[in-house]
Amino acid sequence: MTHDHTAPDAAAEQARREEELLVRVLRSFDDCADPRLKELMQALVRHLHAFLRDVRLTEEEWRKGIEFLTRAGHITDDVRQEFILLSDVLGASMQMITMNNRAHGDATEATVLGPFFVDDAPRIELGGDITGGAPGEPCWVEGTVRDTEGAPVPGARIEVWEADADGLYDVQRDGDRTMGRAHLFTGPDGEYRFWANTPTPYPIPDDGPVGGLLAAVGRSPMRASHLHFLVKADGYRTLVTHIFVRGDALLESDTVFGVRGSLVKEFEGHPAGAPTPDGRAIDGTWSRTRFDIVLAPTA
Ligand code: BEZ
Ligand code: FE
Repeated sequence: MTHDHTAPDAAAEQARREEELLVRVLRSFDDCADPRLKELMQALVRHLHAFLRDVRLTEEEWRKGIEFLTRAGHITDDVRQEFILLSDVLGASMQMITMNNRAHGDATEATVLGPFFVDDAPRIELGGDITGGAPGEPCWVEGTVRDTEGAPVPGARIEVWEADADGLYDVQRDGDRTMGRAHLFTGPDGEYRFWANTPTPYPIPDDGPVGGLLAAVGRSPMRASHLHFLVKADGYRTLVTHIFVRGDALLESDTVFGVRGSLVKEFEGHPAGAPTPDGRAIDGTWSRTRFDIVLAPTA
């Protein structure tokens, strides 16, 4: 039996070349004057090269990856942000949010912002209606905003927004009618209440390369039903979160990994004709939920 002396040497030579290249690229950042930028770039290069070498990326696969990123760039504009969507479906957004909203007592957990928040949603009073006529089943939402010591936070600004029963946010519809979004302020005891629609599931924008990626890997583009909150008060960490509907079949497979068990709430259904909390007359069924919010202090 002949022994192939060249094979191990070739493998060793191959590894030496790959290592030597990596070291050269890492060193190219040595003189970076900004220490954080240097740290980020060197870590990025280390992980990127580890990935390339781990999967032994082919030139054809590299080209497909570049084409994917190019398509993501072409579809991205001031309102459509395909790179954030990519970050979302890879769980990177949620991981970053988890790291940057450190657990603090019983402070409410954060989740993804998503692309459908707008800054200038109308103000409603306590007990007002955010739907603006969007189709859906009415839902009474109430709760309090408190700090981690249990003290009420009056005057906290709460932004709320949601998709309608057709699975669309107002900004996805033609025209500029505001629907399914508003802001309000907590009362003297940190209390808040408003009418919304019972959240229903909808797909993330999946007509671009990220949608293509999800289809290629056999993943659904659906998000679990949710109602978005952004809560701001002086001296507290701004909270970006949602509440989810207990029993929703999509809780385990939310395509952006936004679900946290602590954010899943009971949405109690009521038959047509059942008296409503504020005496409003409603023809059909309606639901109600409670979300008590706890804000962490500013770090
Ligand atoms: C949303 O909930 O609005 C959303 C979040 C992440 C990606 C797409 C949509
Ligand atoms: Fe959403």
